[in-house]
Amino acid sequence: DHDHHAPRTPVIGVIGGSGLYDIAGLTDQRWERVASPWGEASDELLFGTLDGVSLVFLPRHGRGHKRAPSDLNYRANIDVLKRVGVTDILSLSAVGSLKEELPPGHFVIVDQFIDRTFARAKSFFGAGCVAHVSVADPVCPRLGDALEHAARTLGLDVTRGGTYLAMEGPQFSTRAESNLYRSWGCSVIGMTNMPEAKLAREAEICYVTVAMVTDYDCWHQDHDAVTVDQVVKILFGNADHARNLVRHVTPHLNTPRTSCPAGCDHALDHALITAPAA
Ligand code: ADE
Repeated sequence: DHDHHAPRTPVIGVIGGSGLYDIAGLTDQRWERVASPWGEASDELLFGTLDGVSLVFLPRHGRGHKRAPSDLNYRANIDVLKRVGVTDILSLSAVGSLKEELPPGHFVIVDQFIDRTFARAKSFFGAGCVAHVSVADPVCPRLGDALEHAARTLGLDVTRGGTYLAMEGPQFSTRAESNLYRSWGCSVIGMTNMPEAKLAREAEICYVTVAMVTDYDCWHQDHDAVTVDQVVKILFGNADHARNLVRHVTPHLNTPRTSCPAGCDHALDHALITAPAA
């Protein structure tokens, strides 16, 4: 029930995926546990300042990568970010590529998702309070613009737009699945960005994904099927680029604003269907 009329200074939340467990250039750092009624988040939050901007970092799998995609408490992760005032989430995620022109090392600022996950809690609503938010456009275009600009300025190989197929895992896909997702026109595949994006929308937080390609999954004739060794080989170079990207984009996100032009922070205005309690 925040005031939509008073301009607010953004607080940037960064969710770092595999290979990304810290933020370069972050000053006044402190790790702090934030409690949530939804349970335990993946880790403590790292609070700090990046070139004068408040930033909060959450390692998605916990420091040391101890939690599998199906075991993450996605609701707690989004809830703790909401509780500390995060307005904008940058999700940085390792993915497999489903297109020839998106080789390992390439970054995709995705704008759509197909959610094929099935073994995770996906909504804050349902127990006595039903809501259906729109996720027709699940990504905040303002954040996408800023990231695209920063990535191009840094000379990173980047594509704006693309569909992220979220799979349950933890096994990688069969070749038939990989080819099916290609036939659907998907660009990249990963295991974590759903339900993260849906929950961010329910929490009225702007959200964007930078999908960092580590492999060609298993569909490519000229490449071996993906293995963890192969992913890890590419991961750390990508993470260096991601740290640079966060550093360069953050100052451009620091403009106080009254509301998100795309309406991300009004998502619940027309979503509640349960009658208010008397
Ligand atoms: N993360 C990185 N590479 C992946 C792949 N090929 N499939 C699913 N998740 C991934």
